[in-house]
Amino acid sequence: MDLSKVEKLYTENIEKFGIDSRSVGWNSPESQNLRFSKLLEMVTDPETPFSINEVGCGYGELYKYMLTHAYAVNKFTGYDISDKMLENARIYLGNDSRVDLRKAAAIDTEADYSATSGIFNVKFDEQADRWEDYIKEMILNMHRFSRKGFSFNLLTSYVDFHAPDLYYADPAVFFDFCKRECSKKVALLHDYPLYEWTIIVRK
Ligand SMILES: C[S@@+](CC[C@H](N)C(=O)[O-])C[C@H]1O[C@@H](n2cnc3c(N)ncnc32)[C@H](O)[C@@H]1O
Repeated sequence: MDLSKVEKLYTENIEKFGIDSRSVGWNSPESQNLRFSKLLEMVTDPETPFSINEVGCGYGELYKYMLTHAYAVNKFTGYDISDKMLENARIYLGNDSRVDLRKAAAIDTEADYSATSGIFNVKFDEQADRWEDYIKEMILNMHRFSRKGFSFNLLTSYVDFHAPDLYYADPAVFFDFCKRECSKKVALLHDYPLYEWTIIVRK
């Protein structure tokens, strides 16, 4: 998938807003954190040390969230396609031996868990069926590199307004895909006050 427009969008955002939830497309830190709390429901025992990959880590707010909410994360591998995001993540997260930040569009490190938040929302002018294939590829990538589970979120198709450059996903399609291709243990969270849903897959 050509992600050059996505990379440009987030690079421009971080240049404009700096370390701020608006840089990663969220209109408030509260909504950014609500997403994290849903994605992290996959962690069965937050007090037992675990490793986690994040695809599209932005400036690293998920890692900060885990530290401030007493998650015993002992290794965080954050991937992003934007050099500027990674540069800001290095500043924001400081010198922490548990953190590894990498420039790549998919995971290549095994961890207990993997998560991703918001990377599938802006498709620009990509065809919807090609974007759906890309999302499924990324789901299989997270599945392959996660020992215990993974989670992701998407804008919901249960809306009455569609912006042409965004992708609104039918949760039933992705629930079915995860059940058939990844694991029997799949949870769909679609009961929180955003026009989005989260899927959690446990192994
Ligand atoms: C919506 S922002 C969310 C950032 C972070 N997850 C958060 O919630 O604070 C998406 C980020 O993912 C990056 N990104 C998008 N697609 C990606 C991919 N396939 N691999 C790695 N990074 C990606 C973008 O550059 C951007 O920094």
